[in-house]
Amino acid sequence: MALNLIFLGPPGAGKGTLAVRAKELINAPHISTGNIFREAIAAKTDLGLKVKAIIDSGGLVDDETTIALIKERLAQKDASNGYILDGFPRTTAQAEALSGFSSVTKAINFDATDDVVLKRLGGRRVCRKCGFNWHKTFNPPKNENICDKCGGDIYTRDDDKAEAVQKRLAVYREQTAPLIDWYKKAGLLCEINANSGVEETLIAFKNIFNL
Ligand code: AP5
Ligand code: MG
Repeated sequence: MALNLIFLGPPGAGKGTLAVRAKELINAPHISTGNIFREAIAAKTDLGLKVKAIIDSGGLVDDETTIALIKERLAQKDASNGYILDGFPRTTAQAEALSGFSSVTKAINFDATDDVVLKRLGGRRVCRKCGFNWHKTFNPPKNENICDKCGGDIYTRDDDKAEAVQKRLAVYREQTAPLIDWYKKAGLLCEINANSGVEETLIAFKNIFNL
């Protein structure tokens, strides 16, 4: 059965890290709005130029742009047999729009404490080429500036600077956290304790779907 999954949770909860592992298990694409925006910024497309300042400061891109992007992405063939949406929806308007063009199987909430997310974001290092999320302490590459997976350069995201992190957490609490209740009321919510290591989190994910 196709699994149409949403990964909910605060910045730094490990949504992207787990999605990279989980997509192999369910054979479905990992669709991260954050990754799509960062690729557009790197390629200096119209979309990238429009969203760069918003993303660097930790704000949200407008609903209209983001909804149109995901609607188009989910219409592509590879998403017809399931998907993992990482970072979408992030507002009630986005959740409502999504329910109009796709049928969600489960929304998984990655529950992590502030203390844990701050440590994860403080040490995150990202590959410019393949987007893999390394961590200075929890999962360091052999050479701190080169990705072990693809040889790409590794950098620190502008929105992982302290000021932008505080803004992202505030935006999360105000605009995205209410979706936990929204999906609970829709009978679609599952919770994962995301405070432990990647392997434990992966086991919790597998248990939800008997994988
Ligand atoms: P996005 O890229 O989605 O950022 P985010 O939601 O803030 O989430 P993060 O990527 O920071 O966290 P994550 O949970 O993926 O953690 P990760 O796995 O990397 O969005 C960026 C921006 O784009 C937004 O601020 C907004 O401007 C815009 N945007 C995106 N979607 C939008 C939307 N729908 N509407 C409007 N605007 C939108 O893990 C973090 C670190 O911890 C890594 O270093 C990793 O190695 C490490 N780690 C992960 N899991 C573990 C673990 N279990 N144990 C130890 N270390 C771990
Ligand atoms: Mg991410």
